[in-house]
Amino acid sequence: AVANIGVIGLAVMGSNLARNLASREGNTVAVYNRSPERTRTLIAEHPEAGFVASEDIDDFVASLQKPRTAIIMVQAGRGTDAVIEQLTERFEPGDIIVDGGNALFTDTIRREQTVKATGVHFVGAGISGGEEGALKGPSIMPGGSAESYATLGPILSSIAAVAEGEPCVTHVGTDGAGHFVKMIHNGIEYADMQLIAEAYDLLRNVAGFTPAEIAEIFAEWNRGELESYLIEITAEVLRQVDARTGAPLVDVILDEAGSKGTGVWTVQNALDLGVPVSGIAEAVFARSLSSHRAQREAATALPGPSATVSIEDRDAFVEDVRLALYASKIVAYSQGFDAIREGATKYGWSIDEGAISKIWRGGCIIRAQFLNRIADAYAEQPGLEALLTAPYFTEAIAASQESWRRVVVLAAQAGIPAPAFSSSLSYYDGLRAERLPAALVQGQRDFFGAHTYKRVDVDGVFHTLWSGDRSEIETTPSSH
Ligand code: 6PG
Repeated sequence: AVANIGVIGLAVMGSNLARNLASREGNTVAVYNRSPERTRTLIAEHPEAGFVASEDIDDFVASLQKPRTAIIMVQAGRGTDAVIEQLTERFEPGDIIVDGGNALFTDTIRREQTVKATGVHFVGAGISGGEEGALKGPSIMPGGSAESYATLGPILSSIAAVAEGEPCVTHVGTDGAGHFVKMIHNGIEYADMQLIAEAYDLLRNVAGFTPAEIAEIFAEWNRGELESYLIEITAEVLRQVDARTGAPLVDVILDEAGSKGTGVWTVQNALDLGVPVSGIAEAVFARSLSSHRAQREAATALPGPSATVSIEDRDAFVEDVRLALYASKIVAYSQGFDAIREGATKYGWSIDEGAISKIWRGGCIIRAQFLNRIADAYAEQPGLEALLTAPYFTEAIAASQESWRRVVVLAAQAGIPAPAFSSSLSYYDGLRAERLPAALVQGQRDFFGAHTYKRVDVDGVFHTLWSGDRSEIETTPSSH
């Protein structure tokens, strides 16, 4: 046995991660893929990596030093269970199986339970950064036991991206915590992308900028507080000209957004946790709306606003959109971190939110300057009630909220959909409201279902005899 780490599954992500591992001092990497052609191609193309290649799972396992550590990089789903089973049968107590795919965290919890019973460690690790990240340094979110992290931590640290001198990896928490946090990362990724897309739509269809001009606007924004990978690549995409037609590429791409499911999982789980992740939810719904081609075609005759909106000061409008984007982005992250906290409570993980913000500063898709501010906020106030309420973000929103409101009004007047901008603003106004119309909802519930309500002035649970003399009685809490 010569390899200290192995990779199973050699599609692009797996190959790149294996090459990243092999490029680090002290690593000898074993590789295995179900169909051997892929393994052969990889070793032929990358002799410099010094891979220990196997075409048989038994040989692969035999090539690993103890404690054996193997990272599974196959597409999330059934294939993962099959590979885990093959490894579990061959591994010994103390060995470590890492699932580096985008697994659903509840699957990871289940798999860890099963594997743990054999004495083998199972670690679900979220890995973000796409193909390039895998090769040059991703952000890594491992769960699993603290014991396994003692072995795994140094290996993962050696390949992770580095931000502010620190590797973008931390032991997130036990069992499925890593995949849970990766899921929330992806939810935030969806919101971030949708917000950028709405900003683009407004700049294009309200202010009349061309894609090339908007590319320059984004490039400019990328030099300020919005600096991030997603803003940077947006400028690149908008700059791209289609070779076939000479049109901006964005104009010839079919406007139906796909998804692989992690955004949907975030929202499904947030619903279960009772955490309003409205920005993320709107981003997921915006993708689904875009894909309902037949409905969209049937709806093209629906009337829009009768008057056109004209922008007098385009520079001021650009600044308004920038600030609306910034404020909405703060909301999306605040909601994402709320979901992490609630998830941690429900599943019994101790997750350090500050550490999560730090490992998202580099390598991952949502990497941004902004995450330094989030890290600062958690450093100043661990256990912060809501990110939005940290002094830095309160000030940032104070400076942007008027712009934000103008943009949402303009979008509505112009008939341009801005679901993430407007729902984030509604969330913000809901959160800061002293009184919410939830009081009326409670009254309605009590009226038709005797669901009871509490009062602002006296303790206890009350019901109004709506179908009687409408006097109030004190009661026991309703169970329905
Ligand atoms: C990452 C990404 C990645 C994800 C893609 C696709 O962090 O590197 O989140 O894991 O697979 O972004 O997501 P959708 O197909 O759902 O857009």
